[in-house]
Amino acid sequence: MFKRLVRSNLRRVFTKEKNITLKREIPSLDKCYQEINELGIYLHIPFCEQICHYCPYNKEIYKSDVARRYTKAVKTEIDRYSGLIRNKPVTSFYIGGGTPTTMLYSGLAEILEHAHKRFNIQCDIHMESHPNHLNSDNLNAIVSMGIRHLSIGVEALQDRHLKTLNRPYTVEGVKRTIERAVNKNFACVNVDIIFSLPGQTYHEIEQAGNALVEMGVDQIAAYPLFIFRYTQLGKTLKNSKYKFSSILKRRKFLRILEDIFYSAEYRRTSVWAFTRSGVPKYCSVTVPLYLGLGGSGGSYLKDVFYLNTFRVAEYIKALEGGRMPIALSLDLSEAMQMAGWFYWRIYETRFMKEDFKARFGREFNEIYGRFVKPLSLLGFLKDTGDEIVLSDKGTYWLHALEDIFSISYINTLWGDLKQEPWPEEVVM
Ligand SMILES: C[S@@+](CC[C@H](N)C(=O)[O-])C[C@H]1O[C@@H](n2cnc3c(N)ncnc32)[C@H](O)[C@@H]1O
Ligand code: SF4
Repeated sequence: MFKRLVRSNLRRVFTKEKNITLKREIPSLDKCYQEINELGIYLHIPFCEQICHYCPYNKEIYKSDVARRYTKAVKTEIDRYSGLIRNKPVTSFYIGGGTPTTMLYSGLAEILEHAHKRFNIQCDIHMESHPNHLNSDNLNAIVSMGIRHLSIGVEALQDRHLKTLNRPYTVEGVKRTIERAVNKNFACVNVDIIFSLPGQTYHEIEQAGNALVEMGVDQIAAYPLFIFRYTQLGKTLKNSKYKFSSILKRRKFLRILEDIFYSAEYRRTSVWAFTRSGVPKYCSVTVPLYLGLGGSGGSYLKDVFYLNTFRVAEYIKALEGGRMPIALSLDLSEAMQMAGWFYWRIYETRFMKEDFKARFGREFNEIYGRFVKPLSLLGFLKDTGDEIVLSDKGTYWLHALEDIFSISYINTLWGDLKQEPWPEEVVM
């Protein structure tokens, strides 16, 4: 109730919208892609070898024959976009999932080769991976595909927590995997961990943070355990009295990690990520405008957001039948574009005001100055005149906002799209 009230009030102040409705309409793609000068690409691989009960992402159990058909479908989707994008530079490329490494030998290389032929890719490729897929041969295969930034879903460094999360490896084994990856000369190796796990102590998170620094991991992305109501965990907890850790406890976990990483000279590169000094950060799409390929891929262009169908079979069927796999779209008013831009740039913890002007032709202060002043006085951010920098305190409260906005939107949008491949509309 409280969260809903905050959400609707903030939404009205920042976007002037009462609610946000995505409709089953295919936007004018010619226009969308004519309007941009460069873009990022996100490629979704919706397969995993097991389904984790807490995980919100779009995925299904890996089957090699489906992966083969999926490869063909993605290549067709690339062909459909190459005529629209032409020679415009692709300045960031991210492969996420699901588990991209399930397709290491069943189409991933073929998709990348095709993308290189059809798009003007001018950047490194970043990819997520599962620790159990990172033996020496597979790491060599990943390097030979041109992937320079690798993320590993480690999640915890105590066996009891790996067991709670039902992760299929031990701490001893996963540490060897991390070391193998770190010694492989990637530009950046990121490790994901989850904190605020049931019964987790402060000492355990301290142990995990220190171990990752000692192993020479380039970047650590530490997320609190989010509960998504459509996941198995969300459904189990719905009727139970189990209380997850409070917002203050999460803050303490994060403080412990901040202390460890800052004293080891890591810098904060997003709300959740800390990157070793001198290393380029591992991250999802780094430009504000991007094309999402694959089942559930989302595309964010100048004044439109649209999403592909989540159901893999429907995604393949659409492309095999000569149709675009777009399930829902949303026209973005100027206020929505600005609010989205502000939210995602501040999520990266700093941005230049001139970038706002370059995108919208308006002064940042004219639109958001009245919010920045009080937030700056409260110590949530620093306004240097040219740049806005989020403080650790501000980062923490942005996380609280994330709980109110992103998690709630994901619950509605992804939850509905998981149920229904082609909904008429989704209201958020
Ligand atoms: C797509 S998975 C990573 C790659 C691979 N599928 C794996 O599991 O190792 C992305 C990351 O999201 C994070 N994640 C998943 N579910 C989460 C949840 N409920 N709360 C917080 N983080 C979560 C995990 O840290 C996970 O590594
Ligand atoms: S956490 Fe990773 S392996 Fe587990 S279901 Fe999610 S994407 Fe798949």
